[in-house]
Amino acid sequence: MIAAGPIMSYAANRKGNEKMRVALVGTGIRGVRMFGRELLEDYGQYVDLVGICDQNPGRLKFAREYIQPTVAAFTDLEKMLADTRPEWLIVTTWDWEHHNNIITGMKNGCNIICEKPLTIDEDKAEMILQAQKKYDKEVIVTFNYRWVPHRAKLKELLMNKTIGDLTAVEFHWHITHDHLKRYMQRWHAERNRGGSLWVHKSTHHFDLLNWWLDSDPVEVFAYADLERFGPQGPFRGVNCRNCAHTNECPYHWDITENELLRKLYTDNEHHDGYIRDNCVFRKQIDIYDKHSAIIKYANNVQVNYSLTGDSNYEGFWIALNGTKGRIEGKEGGWHGRDDGQDWHMQLIGRDPEVISVPRAEGGHWGGDPLLMDKIFKDPAQADPLHQSAGTRDGIMSILVGVAARKSADSGKPIRIADLTSIKPQARRPAAT
Ligand SMILES: NC(=O)c1ccc[n+]([C@@H]2O[C@H](COP(=O)([O-])OP(=O)(O)OC[C@H]3O[C@@H](n4cnc5c(N)ncnc54)[C@H](O)[C@@H]3O)[C@@H](O)[C@H]2O)c1
Repeated sequence: MIAAGPIMSYAANRKGNEKMRVALVGTGIRGVRMFGRELLEDYGQYVDLVGICDQNPGRLKFAREYIQPTVAAFTDLEKMLADTRPEWLIVTTWDWEHHNNIITGMKNGCNIICEKPLTIDEDKAEMILQAQKKYDKEVIVTFNYRWVPHRAKLKELLMNKTIGDLTAVEFHWHITHDHLKRYMQRWHAERNRGGSLWVHKSTHHFDLLNWWLDSDPVEVFAYADLERFGPQGPFRGVNCRNCAHTNECPYHWDITENELLRKLYTDNEHHDGYIRDNCVFRKQIDIYDKHSAIIKYANNVQVNYSLTGDSNYEGFWIALNGTKGRIEGKEGGWHGRDDGQDWHMQLIGRDPEVISVPRAEGGHWGGDPLLMDKIFKDPAQADPLHQSAGTRDGIMSILVGVAARKSADSGKPIRIADLTSIKPQARRPAAT
């Protein structure tokens, strides 16, 4: 049986001022900052970080100094779990390793907090699903995008059926050149590592859709192409930092100018060969830089979605049409500028109205601190908008991306029910 739901049974069982015993695997930038140093600075009174683990001994050594010089550090996950006995394992490793770390954590008695994407393909998703049934542990997927107040307001409007029943949605996301470059330079650019941006990036967007629409996706048809990166590039070098094409390359970046990135990554390349500033024109790149999909939901809503990389715009635009009216809104702006956070609504036969949402402070448009509060400070906090996410939500969001990837490759529509043992439902079950 799958546990009661993300953090609910933990919250119910937490005693008085008892601290949460957590360990961290994966001390890259996400691990050392949000779930390392910032976790202890902001939530130290609620959390005991009992161990950190990374397979790169140099990065682990630096992470220990950066997070807390007294924390126990391990290059072997099983040893960390055996020696430190955490209740929760935070997984911030490479996307294609998440399932291994999650299953090892559960087998060793841990509940799991996993960064998105939960995993990168349907077989690994099924392994996580079966392991959760076997070990009966809780899994939280850190979908920080749900916690952004502007997006939560839309959820509230939709839950209240303000525009009636949804019929059709248009959702278009853009990434600037500078942002896309960072994916193309790392493991994210190889689909067997990050699942392609359909999974690594769009997992956030598909999760928002699944959550807003409150229904499961049933079928996906997609096109995608790689036009400007990888083998399509006009020239190529080895590393960006000292490439012979520095002056002519629009994507040039010297990683060594950033002290934190230098100490975490370039100083430790000799241990594992992990290069963070690979050439964006290297031939191994096999993901896409433009993506379009049509998604049909079990409640009969049709979605037109796109992810345009290498754009001058950072952010999204969405329009939701319902039986009683329409809501439209956007976030982001030209070259990453933030142009505002309003929802524009018009009910049939009524005047248009603007619903303004105050801008929030903190990482990822204010989503990160609210998510962290819920997990670490006050897990019993009510969740009227269903912002907590578990295994099923994590899987349903990646399956849209997996289906889109398969569809773009094959030219055929792909059914979500054919991918794992989860059967899509018109109304999504509560988070598990
Ligand atoms: N929610 C968000 O907005 C958000 C933002 C950034 C990153 N992330 C996610 O966080 C995760 C980490 O991202 P990052 O940028 O820090 O990646 P990274 O590549 O910089 O770091 C990953 C670290 O994990 C270690 N590692 C990998 N596999 C391991 C294993 N099996 N055992 C032990 N150590 C292992 C690597 O050595 C590396 O230090 C990714 O899954 C990413 O998608 C989410």
